[in-house]
Amino acid sequence: MAKHQKLLKRRDFLIGLGALASMVPLAYSSRFSDYKQVKASGERDFSVVGNTSLRQRAAAKGLIYGAHPDPESPEFSQDLQLQSSFIQECAILVAGFYWIGSQPSANNFDFTETDYFAKFASDNGILFRGHPLIWHELIPQWLNDKFKNPQTTSSEIQDIFTNHISTIVKRYGGRVHSWDVVNEAIETDDGRRDGLRVNSWLKFLGADYIELAFRIAAQADPKALLVYNETGLEYDTPRDEARRNATLKLLERLKSKGVPIHAFGIQSHLLGHQTQFNPNKLRKFLADVASLGLKILITELDVSDRELPVNFAARDRIVAGVYEDYLSVVLEQPSVIAVITWGLSDKYTWLSQAAPRSDRLPVRPLPLDSNFQRKLAWNAMARAFDNAPKR
Ligand code: GLA
Repeated sequence: MAKHQKLLKRRDFLIGLGALASMVPLAYSSRFSDYKQVKASGERDFSVVGNTSLRQRAAAKGLIYGAHPDPESPEFSQDLQLQSSFIQECAILVAGFYWIGSQPSANNFDFTETDYFAKFASDNGILFRGHPLIWHELIPQWLNDKFKNPQTTSSEIQDIFTNHISTIVKRYGGRVHSWDVVNEAIETDDGRRDGLRVNSWLKFLGADYIELAFRIAAQADPKALLVYNETGLEYDTPRDEARRNATLKLLERLKSKGVPIHAFGIQSHLLGHQTQFNPNKLRKFLADVASLGLKILITELDVSDRELPVNFAARDRIVAGVYEDYLSVVLEQPSVIAVITWGLSDKYTWLSQAAPRSDRLPVRPLPLDSNFQRKLAWNAMARAFDNAPKR
């Protein structure tokens, strides 16, 4: 299991589930039957034409498909089946640059894993992207101690912040397709008018820490596409609506100040049982983002089957329907340039730990099964790429 997953709290996912449970007090069966009514008037057969890979089907429409190499090394470096599936299906690899791994102590950077993935990508004709430079999670102890120390000054934190971003971005300068410069800066539940999350970066550097991060990254690598990445935006719920509004305002502010931000990443961690999906609201949000001149990436796509039936065939069908319905909406937006799943095979997914099923059966959220065979979710993605308008 990847290093960062051991440390990742089951935070957003369970918050999302909790919010959902409080809003839709439907009996399980009616929620499931609602889903069936909403999703399929008549069974979809998910048939695809030909045998070409997801990367080839995406490329035919000017899109990039790829994945996060869950698990990160060393498991990835030892699983040759995973590697060959990755090379076959993926045109981009997003490596984890979590502070806990990339700067484990104040004067020490560790590039072992990220160098491995940069080389793997380069050796196999796969684009390389980094995620995230600045986040509020997976902060190493030495930095948390500084955050908690009342003697710590803002200028000290700014020096650490600047050194971290520039050291990492310069190291991979010219070799990176894109960086998630800042991840998950929105938290409307924190009550600020601007909807920003009250994290340590904001406490020490103010709300402009986001702008600062982009300016440092742009100076360190003028070629890289610089992305703001966000979660909890996909559904027709009051919380996601509030988050969409706050995210759009943040992007508008950044653009109005001439901040070097080039793209927006929508994580897209989807829930197979979630029926509150309004295509038109999502379309409008993406159109509003695109109207700012920003490209859009689907950055962490997966579909949790945590609350779906026991039966694998039934689960796979619902998961595939969610993949196809979601992608058919987002790929209508010509500014969407990439689709990245958070993992490739069910053998390795963060959801096994972050959101296990109550019946303890293995989860099945990704395009390939645990034996790297293509599932209906793969078919659904292939169909979505085949039917997408060409960029
Ligand atoms: C969030 C983060 C990712 C990753 C996933 C879970 O979506 O953006 O970096 O940690 O959680 O693996």
